[in-house]
Amino acid sequence: MKRIAVLTSGGDGPGLNPCIRAVTRMALHLGAEVLGVRRGYEGLIAGDAVELDRRSVGGIMGRGGTFLGATRCPEFYENKGRKEALRALNRLGAEGLVVIGGNGSLTGALEMHRMGFPVVGVPATIDNDVTGTDIAIGVDTVLNTILDAVDRIKDTAASHARAFLIETMGRNSGYLALVSGLAGGAELVLIPEVETSLEAVAATVESAYVRGKSHCIIIVAEGWKPGTRALVDYLAERREELGFAVRLTVLGYIQRGGKPSAFDRRLATHLGAAAAEALTNGERGVMVGWIGNRLALTPLEEAVAFQKEIDLELCELAAIMER
Ligand code: F6P
Repeated sequence: MKRIAVLTSGGDGPGLNPCIRAVTRMALHLGAEVLGVRRGYEGLIAGDAVELDRRSVGGIMGRGGTFLGATRCPEFYENKGRKEALRALNRLGAEGLVVIGGNGSLTGALEMHRMGFPVVGVPATIDNDVTGTDIAIGVDTVLNTILDAVDRIKDTAASHARAFLIETMGRNSGYLALVSGLAGGAELVLIPEVETSLEAVAATVESAYVRGKSHCIIIVAEGWKPGTRALVDYLAERREELGFAVRLTVLGYIQRGGKPSAFDRRLATHLGAAAAEALTNGERGVMVGWIGNRLALTPLEEAVAFQKEIDLELCELAAIMER
């Protein structure tokens, strides 16, 4: 393979730059030229790419986001958009493509593979909901960002004897909320995968107050229903019964930025390098993941067939620690 292309797609996260760097340097090492596609699939359809050499991916290990840019691209869901992308790849002389992204981006990669184009995927999503990898690029850094916020909020919550709802990202996935709740010593975690009634949340707050706790921290995933706002209103109306007044912090996009952690830099380097190697070795339609601390290849078809399920043992452990 003489020339490959690489793109980042979907929601960004820390670790994408180290991954692009690893794809590039391994491909160059194996004798292939590298094109960096700007703005994900949108840029691919437009044929917007730049040649990458060893120097053009230097000095980016510690930078969050993606220097190539990333988009969510509805045109790519259509056959027409994908055909345009294939035309652009042919025009650019690319013989293979590395797609770095989450479920939606990897589904796009699978479609390209089905159209006969050599593609290898790399899981990068802060939601950690891709099958075929224990952990995706970005997750570790985001967990550390959330924990930093939880520790800070605990200080003020305890000073004022308040209950705090802290909302994490995760429209469909409770992973970030669950693990940050476990590691941050939260009194309760609310995630989309597990139903919890407003009454049960109120009972937890009241019980924390009665047991003499100085605060009550509840981590809520963005996708939990009926939603953080509804919960704040419900708890605020019952302030007298509960003991604690309630405050809300929505962490939002601050979670997606920032320097990648050591773990994410290493993971991104392993996965990016392995993706370039797999592609140039003739692997097709696979995702390079990390299972049991080792590289693992999974067919893209399997990787995107289901959103990875939440670990119920982790939920049980978190529940025991919360009491
Ligand atoms: O998929 C990653 C993610 O950060 C989700 O946790 C979040 O719900 C979503 O992206 C936000 O997407 P956007 O950047 O399109 O607003």
